Amino acid sequence: MNPDGTMNILLLGSGGREAAMAWKMLQSPLLGHLYIAPGNGGTTACGTNLPIDPCDAEAVDKAVTEHSIDMVVGGSEAPLVAGLRDKLLERAAMRGDKLLFVGPGADGAALEGSKDFAKRFMGRHNIPTARHLTVTKTNVDEGRAFLHSLKAPYVLKADGLAAGKGVLIIDNLDEAIAALDTMLDGQFGAASASVVIEQFLKGIECSVFVLTDGSGNYRVLPVAKDYKRIGEGDTGLNTGGMGAVSPVPFADETFMQKVTERIIEPTLSGLRQEGIDYRGFIFLGLINCDGDPYVIEYNVRMGDPETETVMTRIVSDFVEALRGAASGNLEGCDMTIDPRTAVGVMAVSGGYPGSYAKGKEMTIGTMSGDIHVFHAGTKEAEGKLLSWGGRVIDVVALADDIPSAAAKAYDALLQISFEGMYFRRDIGKDLL
Ligand code: AMP
Ligand code: GLY
Repeated sequence: MNPDGTMNILLLGSGGREAAMAWKMLQSPLLGHLYIAPGNGGTTACGTNLPIDPCDAEAVDKAVTEHSIDMVVGGSEAPLVAGLRDKLLERAAMRGDKLLFVGPGADGAALEGSKDFAKRFMGRHNIPTARHLTVTKTNVDEGRAFLHSLKAPYVLKADGLAAGKGVLIIDNLDEAIAALDTMLDGQFGAASASVVIEQFLKGIECSVFVLTDGSGNYRVLPVAKDYKRIGEGDTGLNTGGMGAVSPVPFADETFMQKVTERIIEPTLSGLRQEGIDYRGFIFLGLINCDGDPYVIEYNVRMGDPETETVMTRIVSDFVEALRGAASGNLEGCDMTIDPRTAVGVMAVSGGYPGSYAKGKEMTIGTMSGDIHVFHAGTKEAEGKLLSWGGRVIDVVALADDIPSAAAKAYDALLQISFEGMYFRRDIGKDLL
């Protein structure tokens, strides 16, 4: 801790999610200096970018000591699944340093790192989810029989992390059976040595984010919905996310009461019962089936691009909440939420999610109030701002309802340009 009581924070990641978290952290009087590793062309406005791979525990640990970091905030899942928290806390303890970490250890991160683990966990704690069977090469006959017992479409998931690409949804039974073999033969490397076959659930999805301190306290952040497909009307290839809306009209008090009772509380008490000290975010990917919530997946981090809308709606001190979670004491931490609606639209590089060009010079005009521009894939070079990824920049607008927030976001997008820029024009429309 700095002499004035502020904390130096190291935020791991480089996307729009981290840009939005950095922006929100900057508003806190508890923040000393913010470092972002590796960050992007927009996060430099909030702190210092460090050219470090978050999966390189050695390098992250070095940055912690070099920059007198008090709290590390995990951004994406891979470092957490690989045990980054455990390694950093162990090294800090050996030095006699106090270090806070937001994010689970490898044990808790298995909720995202292994779909089979997540399914078994839900089974042990009676948490509603799709019927499933885990298949490896040893019980592939059972897997085929299970597919025969299900109705189309068929859901096949690589057990391990596959960079968001490990879920296949297939309409035809023969193709699903063939896909099962291809996956088990290593389509997603070691991640698909086990495959989870699932019953298809029909409904609308939403993302619920819970921040927990491992001691039974938790806060529910604003609920959001993301738009995964590249094309309007949710068509075409899957992407990292083309936009988001928060709040989600169907996630009303009655629905959220069910989410709390049937999912959030059993998840948190299940983690404690199993001796998992989980301090950080749990992202519940939920599906609303005729008013009842089911878990599609657990993630052990915030969602992108949901976070960009979620951060603009949190009124209270976000650093205080993070510190509360990491130190095991969220009690008394405020989570006040702006009642307005946030709509975020992601501008992407032409060709994405296929191949696309990088390094296009960008211009961003002046934005009016209630418009937030979060960089996702950008880079600063020689005083110029360049596109540097598939998803480039996320424009989030706040207003009283979805149509007016969307209109504001689309208006603001007129102020942004780079060669090949594309965005969906229907974000939020399905919720009206
Ligand atoms: P994931 O990569 O795990 O986020 O899954 C990708 C998407 O597949 C999810 O966001 C859902 O839209 C869909 N999905 C996964 N599991 C199911 C299921 N059991 N029923 C219906 N859709 C599913
Ligand atoms: N937007 C979904 C995710 O971050 O996984």
